[in-house]
Amino acid sequence: MRRPFVAGNWKMNGSRSHAASLVDGILEGKSDLGDVEVGVCPPFVLIPMVADRLAGSGVAWGAQNLDPNESGAFTGEVSGSMLADFDCRYCIVGHSERRALYGETNDLVAAKFQAAQRDGLVPILCVGETLAQREGDETEAVVAAQLNAVLDAAGPKTMVEAVIAYEPVWAIGTGMTATPEQAQAVHAYIRELIAGRDADVAGSVRILYGGSVKAGNAAELFAQPDIDGGLIGGASLQSDEFLAICRAACQ
Ligand code: PGA
Repeated sequence: MRRPFVAGNWKMNGSRSHAASLVDGILEGKSDLGDVEVGVCPPFVLIPMVADRLAGSGVAWGAQNLDPNESGAFTGEVSGSMLADFDCRYCIVGHSERRALYGETNDLVAAKFQAAQRDGLVPILCVGETLAQREGDETEAVVAAQLNAVLDAAGPKTMVEAVIAYEPVWAIGTGMTATPEQAQAVHAYIRELIAGRDADVAGSVRILYGGSVKAGNAAELFAQPDIDGGLIGGASLQSDEFLAICRAACQ
């Protein structure tokens, strides 16, 4: 059985006071959650205080990006070992905003995936197509290229210590969620692709859906057989809404 997982991607939002009240709200509400793993990915500078508050709570924390190098003259970058030093469990890699705004290629994303695992972090690998690609019937080809770059570089067994997030770019921050059927179809395709390399790994890897998930649409998405939880952007910035989404993953 795959344990459901709901992770908050705060993106470049928040302040010390907002992060404190958000985390405290999650801690207050988490006792009535069922069997769901919960995690938050704050901006780098907020990780130390979030880590202090969440230590020992069972709620995990992680980062939104890392540099593939171990250390050295890489001004402005943060390495996986630095994140591990703050007890991050997760690190998002290949988010579509990084691919689109910062030119991250499939090869760079694969290098970040491997660097995260080298430093003991669990990568949350994001894949997904743009609206033009969906309309051009390229969804499967795009997702396959994104995933295969990592599978070729790292090998299928590495997916045991990873999470995949299917995030259609046209659904991120737009309010245009994929229908449960659209999402399920791509999730099943991703699992099939991995099964082509290793059936056991395909059965155990968690595949999250991301893109305008809200308390109101989470349950029907999470009810799909190949959707194992969500990567939540905007709706993870309010503890009540985020907790309601976490609860929807347990039903
Ligand atoms: P959204 O973002 O929930 O605000 O659409 C999801 C994401 O980008 O991870």
